[in-house]
Amino acid sequence: MANRYAWRGFMLDAARHFMPVDDVLRLIDAAALCGVNVMHWHLADDQGWRVEIERFPELTRVGAFRGASHFGTLPADAHNDGFYTAGDVRRVVEHAGARGIEVVPEIDLPGHSSTLLAAYPQYGCRRTVTDGRRERYIEKPYKYDVLGIPGIFPNLVCAGSDAAVGFLEDVLDELIKLFPGRYFHIGGDEAVKLHWRRCPDCRRRMEGEGLPDAEALQRWLVLRLGQHLHDRGKRPIVWNDALAGGPLPDWFVVQQWAGDGEQARRFMAEGGQVIWSEVGHFYLDYPYSAIDVHHIWALPDVPAFAEGHEDKLLGVECPLWTEYVPDVDRAGYLLFPRLAAAGLRFGGGDFPTWEGFRDALKETQARVAALGLEGAPEAYWRMTPEDAARDREAEALRRRSPETDAACDAEARLLMQEDLERLLYAIRMPWGFALRVMDAAWRRVPEYCGADASAGGDGAEVMADQLLTAVRSRRDGAWRDLPEDVWLDTMAAYPRFVNEHRRSYGRYGFDRGFWTTRHAGARLFRVGALEYELKDGEVGLHIPSDIALDMDALDASVAAARDFLGRFFPEWRDAPMTCETWLLSPKLDDLLPDASRIRAFRRAFDLLSVDPGDDDAVEWVFNVAAGQRDALDFAALPEDTALRRGMKALLLRDEKPGAGKGRLARGFRQ
Ligand code: ACM
Ligand code: ZN
Repeated sequence: MANRYAWRGFMLDAARHFMPVDDVLRLIDAAALCGVNVMHWHLADDQGWRVEIERFPELTRVGAFRGASHFGTLPADAHNDGFYTAGDVRRVVEHAGARGIEVVPEIDLPGHSSTLLAAYPQYGCRRTVTDGRRERYIEKPYKYDVLGIPGIFPNLVCAGSDAAVGFLEDVLDELIKLFPGRYFHIGGDEAVKLHWRRCPDCRRRMEGEGLPDAEALQRWLVLRLGQHLHDRGKRPIVWNDALAGGPLPDWFVVQQWAGDGEQARRFMAEGGQVIWSEVGHFYLDYPYSAIDVHHIWALPDVPAFAEGHEDKLLGVECPLWTEYVPDVDRAGYLLFPRLAAAGLRFGGGDFPTWEGFRDALKETQARVAALGLEGAPEAYWRMTPEDAARDREAEALRRRSPETDAACDAEARLLMQEDLERLLYAIRMPWGFALRVMDAAWRRVPEYCGADASAGGDGAEVMADQLLTAVRSRRDGAWRDLPEDVWLDTMAAYPRFVNEHRRSYGRYGFDRGFWTTRHAGARLFRVGALEYELKDGEVGLHIPSDIALDMDALDASVAAARDFLGRFFPEWRDAPMTCETWLLSPKLDDLLPDASRIRAFRRAFDLLSVDPGDDDAVEWVFNVAAGQRDALDFAALPEDTALRRGMKALLLRDEKPGAGKGRLARGFRQ
């Protein structure tokens, strides 16, 4: 029977818990019965470095021992320590090869590298903090440990250090000697880049290589290591996160595990091959209540992201992460028969009925049991809702302990910080101020960043709070399902206010906290030239200070906003659009010629009311901040434009410019 896919793999994480060689051999025997032809061996992670590298003995002397760990209710002393010698690796590779299974090693880089850095801390990033207004390098290095908790950590190998990159290449060369197969996995997942953004060496690398952000720096490193492997006849594999920094050459293989698959689809369109390993379908460390055997049977032949590129789907792989898998018994329970199900489902057989599929599995399950591996009982293959609820609850309890809960909480804060920093880059916050916002937010993750960042006093604290609120809203709040471009355009109000602050005061700062909370709350959106606020049954128009009152751009913005509201807030699509602004003050008709853009703007509105006592215009026309108003000397105001001349004269007469409220009644370009 022809196999449908070339790659029918399973992944064994030997880092979180160490699996003795004899147990690995037994799992390979069982996997071979399931039609598996690849064992992806995850050999290094934050909690353990499991393969001996003779040239760098500290990797295992330090990295293979953690003593104790806190993974939910698992015993603290279960299978924390150990590593595979070169002889062990040879045994495993030969044993697997004899059963038609290629062993693919993974060293996860540049994240998940706590153990590497605990052994060789000189290959981590250097630290900076901001000192008042300037950034400075400090001697105190980051502290790295072999970790005994689950999670994601910011401990990355320094991509700016030539010595570190050379070290990684040397490690790969040593591993190439041990693993004769064609494929080689270099990780690339969950690399939280907090240290990179602050490291003088990483920053120099980004500048020198013309890289726009830290994602692009990861791509640079992945390309460099991938090329090293490629030159030696290997095909490098990366988790799909590595595509975030831009496309990779088609001699890479991408393992798709998380996200919408859009980048993987593009990679396939450019000729690259992808392994399908999505968490919700193939992660066999998930309990049966999340993925039962029936779920695997019912999967489509091809995931949505690969439609149209079927020939680029290299195959499927079932990862077994082992934070909560202490030993081979638990591994056997989780793998069998789900691994057999995946092998059967994607191995080219035809099973139109569930009953036929189930019966075919029974035979394999019996042969696996003969190896001493007891899989899940048949009642769990297609779970009843009651069994599923019980299983979910039991698994949730297994994963809970005070230490584990604290680790999860720290991870959540860390990921918020990462999102906040990416946002600061994406909206091009002026770098000096971005650093201070990052500093202010770092105090919420003292576990990983140190708490010695300086206090702001310039609004950076307030902005950090607001951006963290906004990031939370984007992750799982009101902003979650709205388009990325609207999100980024809206959030670009923040650098605008920082730039306005500098125009007024001569230095960067943030004093619009009361205002920007509305941007963060997904009730105010930038769409093209204008902002639109959903409030009190009206769509309030706001005029950002960075626009040029171009009538075509204003019309285009209104049309795009109606379209956006129609799609995401249909009840608001036909709401009246109103604007309250000094631009609608009738007094401007006396100050400006008929052809002025402000007067053209005014003609689009029907005036509803006028507030003659309003003097907001002074801020906008003369670039003065609200906080500077009381001490303002009218006589010293510039008069370099008609508007400024007229308004200055008016102020000197002790009049106010006033403001109007209008309803948008016609197009801007009449
Ligand atoms: C992964 O599950 N972090 C690839
Ligand atoms: Zn660095």
